Amino acid sequence: MRINPADTSYGTFCELIGAYRMFYVTQAALTSGIIDLLDNGGGATSNEIISQLDLKQAEGNRFLALLEHAGLLVRSNQQWRLSPFSKTYLSQSSFSSQRSSLAFEPLLMENWRQLGTILQEGQGALIQEQPQDQYLERLQLFHHAMAEAAQVRSRELWDAVVPLPEQGTIIDLGAGDGTYLRAFLHRHPRWCGVLCDLPDVCERVAPQSASENLTLSPCNVLDQKELDALIEAYRGTAGIVLLSNLHHCYAPDENRTLLQQIAPLVNNNGVLIVHDFFRDANSFGALYDLHMLANTFNGRTYSISETCSIVTNAGFSYTETIELPSFSLALVASRTQHPVIKTNKY
Ligand SMILES: C[S@@+](CC[C@H](N)C(=O)[O-])C[C@H]1O[C@@H](n2cnc3c(N)ncnc32)[C@H](O)[C@@H]1O
Repeated sequence: MRINPADTSYGTFCELIGAYRMFYVTQAALTSGIIDLLDNGGGATSNEIISQLDLKQAEGNRFLALLEHAGLLVRSNQQWRLSPFSKTYLSQSSFSSQRSSLAFEPLLMENWRQLGTILQEGQGALIQEQPQDQYLERLQLFHHAMAEAAQVRSRELWDAVVPLPEQGTIIDLGAGDGTYLRAFLHRHPRWCGVLCDLPDVCERVAPQSASENLTLSPCNVLDQKELDALIEAYRGTAGIVLLSNLHHCYAPDENRTLLQQIAPLVNNNGVLIVHDFFRDANSFGALYDLHMLANTFNGRTYSISETCSIVTNAGFSYTETIELPSFSLALVASRTQHPVIKTNKY
């Protein structure tokens, strides 16, 4: 959400202070069981929903009416059904389901509540050691949420960036569960993919990633020895090196060094793609910067020109940015004017 600075309407103010309510409405639609109950597509009446989920009669009816108003349910002939929006993002069986993202977001809210403390004490002030079991649970939820977002965002990215050669190698650094790579290889099956992430992440994704044209290459890219080994293994081989949502995890110096070091992976006509949120691209990217401020030690989002300058420093003189539909941007950088990809603007 962005307020037009010239907008002085009280309606905008009301929407602003109540914005969090829609999050809780969506969460309650799930936790009450309403979404799952209607997920079979058959529909149900108010009384069926209320009695099956053991809701209070009056409150249940008021909540159902709100869900219709909010666009999460539709009603015809006294039957409630999921709206297309709910079917897409809330249904358990949807390819684009975002249920883990909804479960993960509340873990971030406590730090958002304390933004003022960070402004006075600095980034990282709120980050506390957690017991190992809590940390692992949180990490798992984070990876599930990332993977869900990647289902949608990878489609947007590979609609916009298309390789020209039929064959080649794509290396994904900080690949997470490999959703971006698998989506790419599905479209371009004669390419080979190299999935690179921290060793424990690679271990977790190994079972789902096994395929002939996908290699796992565990590597902490901040560890000089591990990075050197990766570069020696793949020097000059990549038509595409992808950094998707890795750039925002690190500070400017770390990114500058990292991009300079990984540049030799990219072959002469190849491209480096930095897919991320940018703080001056839209309000989502601007808010993402504060999310990093609240929840990480040194993460941040960059302005487009800051990242262009970092990739230019690494030897990629030609840059093109493509704004994707859900607020992320692909910054495509190459050494030549005619690299191995074509780009489609939305
Ligand atoms: C925000 S997630 C992005 C995942 C995926 N690329 C995407 O866009 O959904 C960042 C990923 O980078 C990985 N990562 C962070 N630091 C790393 C490092 N030093 N070396 C290798 N991978 C790293 C994390 O484990 C995580 O999977």
